[in-house]
Amino acid sequence: MKIPYLNLKAITALHADEIQTAVQTVVESGWYLQGKAVQQFEEHYARYIGTRHCIGVANGLDALTLTLRAYKEMGRLNEGDEVLVPANTFIATVLAITENHLCPIFVDVEEDTLDLNIEALKQAITPNTKALMLVHLYGRCTYNERIQTWCHKHHLLLIEDNAQAHGCLYGSRRTGSLSHAACHSFYPGKNLGALGDGGAVTTNDEELAHTLRALANYGFSEKYVAPMQGRNSRLDELQAAVLDVKLKYLDHENDRRISIARTYYNNIKNQALRLPTLMDEGNNVYHIFPVFTPRREELQQYLQDRGIQTLIHYPIPPHQQGCYKAYNHLSLPVTEKLAHEELSLPLNPAMTDEEVMYIVESLNTF
Ligand SMILES: Cc1ncc(COP(=O)(O)O)c(C=O)c1O
Repeated sequence: MKIPYLNLKAITALHADEIQTAVQTVVESGWYLQGKAVQQFEEHYARYIGTRHCIGVANGLDALTLTLRAYKEMGRLNEGDEVLVPANTFIATVLAITENHLCPIFVDVEEDTLDLNIEALKQAITPNTKALMLVHLYGRCTYNERIQTWCHKHHLLLIEDNAQAHGCLYGSRRTGSLSHAACHSFYPGKNLGALGDGGAVTTNDEELAHTLRALANYGFSEKYVAPMQGRNSRLDELQAAVLDVKLKYLDHENDRRISIARTYYNNIKNQALRLPTLMDEGNNVYHIFPVFTPRREELQQYLQDRGIQTLIHYPIPPHQQGCYKAYNHLSLPVTEKLAHEELSLPLNPAMTDEEVMYIVESLNTF
């Protein structure tokens, strides 16, 4: 059997007819930017997430970068302010901080839950700390009320990086609605993925929404009037139309992901592998299914020999990257261990039960 990590063709094929029709409608409309399709998707996505506003942008990195930039324009953040961020994240979360000349403060995570280490978080705060970025990495909701209360007490902005957790729940509320602002990526491989780049910010803050819209459109407050130095970062009509189709099926596809994950949790019996703490149903939408083992390279090769493709998320944590030399000296032992031991198993809604069981059997005979 041959199982790719991700088969985007098969995932798109799940809704091929509707996607083709949506694309054709945009093509024939003759209107490709800032039109009805984007407006409609923004409305639908805001309603789905449970916020008053959704602002479409060009990609997830821009969603993060422009959100911090907007808070600077609004006087809520200033250059040099500290932003707490989990050390175990994709580099984009950190790039958004440093591009804004803000200072990332890396906080280590817990090995079993992969959540922020609360003691480390409490020790990291200084009078210069002004925000906390929560990253729902792998699709796991990492928010809780204790963190919310703590941020409130210290007057911190709370921002969610929801790039990997579309549709995830905390109680009856969705991630993306739990903070001051939440940033989403619609990179094709995401749970809600476009056929190219796309991103969005969701928020209840009217001023933030207004500032973001201007920043993403050259800084214009009205046509050709630029009180701020903005950029061009727009979600386009084609991607919005595709996303609007796929949004209707997101919960259904997340249910399939959850069901595959349940099969993994119930049937992977190999003591050589560590699985993260199982979360309550709905609190994890399994964008990535990580397993951990010190024999990671050996396992990856073993699975490859059996036709199963796996990926590593992520082999080098941001603080150890060449572009972040000033942070290379930091010791964040759990994050560094995870980077050496993580292996991502295939998990997506286009997989068959047979493929899932073949992966389980292969892991159990490793
Ligand atoms: C956690 C996280 N943050 C941010 C991003 C950046 O999103 P994009 O690739 O759309 O720029 C991604 C995905 O790529 C991500 O996984």
